[in-house]
Amino acid sequence: MSHSRLLDLLLSQPGQYVSGEEISRKLSISRTAVWKQINKLREEGYEFEAVSRKGYRLISKPERLEYSGLLQAMNTKSFGRRLKLLDVTTSTQEEVRLLAEQGADEGTLVIAEEQTIGRGRQGRKWHSPAGKGIWMSLLLRPQLPLSSAPQLTLLSAVAVCRAVRAVTGVDVGIKWPNDLLANGRKVCGILLESVGEDEMIRYCIAGIGIDVNLESSDLPPELVPIATSLQIESGQKVDRAVLVGLILAEMEKLYGLYLEEGFAPIGHLWEALSITTGQDITVKTAQGEVSGRAMGLDENGGLLVIQEDKRQTTIFSGEVQFVGCNP
Ligand code: BTN
Repeated sequence: MSHSRLLDLLLSQPGQYVSGEEISRKLSISRTAVWKQINKLREEGYEFEAVSRKGYRLISKPERLEYSGLLQAMNTKSFGRRLKLLDVTTSTQEEVRLLAEQGADEGTLVIAEEQTIGRGRQGRKWHSPAGKGIWMSLLLRPQLPLSSAPQLTLLSAVAVCRAVRAVTGVDVGIKWPNDLLANGRKVCGILLESVGEDEMIRYCIAGIGIDVNLESSDLPPELVPIATSLQIESGQKVDRAVLVGLILAEMEKLYGLYLEEGFAPIGHLWEALSITTGQDITVKTAQGEVSGRAMGLDENGGLLVIQEDKRQTTIFSGEVQFVGCNP
């Protein structure tokens, strides 16, 4: 039996209790089957009140992202105006890559309620449970050399950080290059993938993953010590559509500024939100580990580190660990 018939029945009597017996009779299923379907729906995020001798009453539906709500929340010219909203996909990065290869416009956005093979940086998996987060990818087509792509990563982190702060009030900061942390735990990761030709960018896909309304029990045990969510940090549910809208507005604004004025203004904004500058860190790079004090960004967006022997190095890619912190 599909759940929708049971849901339709409860929705047709809003606020009312419908007895198990009535449901079982109208849908021609056993009382046990009714109970099982109710539990299945509960797992999907529906909330019911069950009172003996009265029956079941639907209290709330899972919050879903809808086209209308998203478009209403987007105050942008082009970013997000071409929107594909999916219940489930392997990875929104893959969806956008296919659209990009078919010639999709800059600003095309794919959002999924759930990803089955969400990708993180450095070949890691990205946990993307249904209905709880923002899992989205945005297509960019800047006419820039491939070597500029890391700057777009920093730009994306600034945009998301500003939007998260404005919408939720949670004091998130940026760990170089583009992780957002709250109270030392990760709430957002950004994966920028670029496809180039003759040293120029053909397109970039900015993948943004935000743990929005996850509860601690939604995190796999290995993530509990290192990850958190905006709901856990703020103590309340966050309207995902409003947050998506503001992220896109910030992205569009900063991207325009970057194309006009170059990286300098973005670098200053990044510095203002950085939780890396001034910290003692160890960076794992492809060339080995570098330890020292993070001094901020150089003019291209590389991380300046003064090592213990006072030598200064610039790091272009790697994983930062704060000295004295496990995560
Ligand atoms: C990281 O490792 O910190 C980056 C995580 C990026 C996750 C996002 S979720 C939307 C998009 N689709 C993916 O498969 N990954 C990115």
